[in-house]
Amino acid sequence: MTNKYMYFIANWKMFGDLRTLNSLDSVIKFSKNNKISKFRIIYCPPSTLIRPLSKRLKKTNLEVGAQNCHESENYGAFTGHVNSKMLKNVGAKYVILGHSENRQSGETDKLINLKIKSAIKSNLKVIFCIGETLSEKRKKLTNKVLAKQINNGLSSIKDTSDIIIAYEPVWSIGTGLIPKSKDLLNSISYIKSKFRRKVPKVLYGGSVNNKNITELKDINIIDGFLIGGASQNSKKFIDIIKKTFN
Ligand code: 13P
Repeated sequence: MTNKYMYFIANWKMFGDLRTLNSLDSVIKFSKNNKISKFRIIYCPPSTLIRPLSKRLKKTNLEVGAQNCHESENYGAFTGHVNSKMLKNVGAKYVILGHSENRQSGETDKLINLKIKSAIKSNLKVIFCIGETLSEKRKKLTNKVLAKQINNGLSSIKDTSDIIIAYEPVWSIGTGLIPKSKDLLNSISYIKSKFRRKVPKVLYGGSVNNKNITELKDINIIDGFLIGGASQNSKKFIDIIKKTFN
């Protein structure tokens, strides 16, 4: 593949406990022994693990992110919630926002927009997820949906240069299905075309594994991958990174 800088972002979703962190030792070793300038590894564990993980990764090349945050960067009476400032305080540098699993449980573009603004204020880098459902794909609405999610999600945000976009078709998440290369190339190009000046990094997410990576890596406008299931297995995760550069 190309020798450009690639992102490998692990989204652990609601998996993992303190013991799971031991499994990262092999990834830390791998990153030390390789040309880290070529890739960036970011782990987004559940919020319970952000602090212990950021301590563990202190002298390594790996970074830590969160999976969501409240829309207010101020403290407040919001039982069960965590805001961007709190995430920053415990060591997160990134936050995933707009994930379809949260959109499906009620997050609107407007709410996601507020969350993105709050994350930016707290100096977190945003991993902004967008993607169409299967029925939208069947109705050939993919570009329309992507445009709406980008326009509304990033509404009135002037500097989008630090935002990483993750294109995750809803129908590909956890299903083993990935888009046809031609469709994926079109969607990623379309997303990039929505930005006039600084084009953000655009990642692909959805059933990325150590087999289909050989096909995905050939789409050379992809800037990296947001990986769910396969990121919980360090051996597979390392294999994905190695194969991307082979
Ligand atoms: P899977 O890799 O398990 O399909 O999950 C993708 C995802 O939702 C990453 O955010």
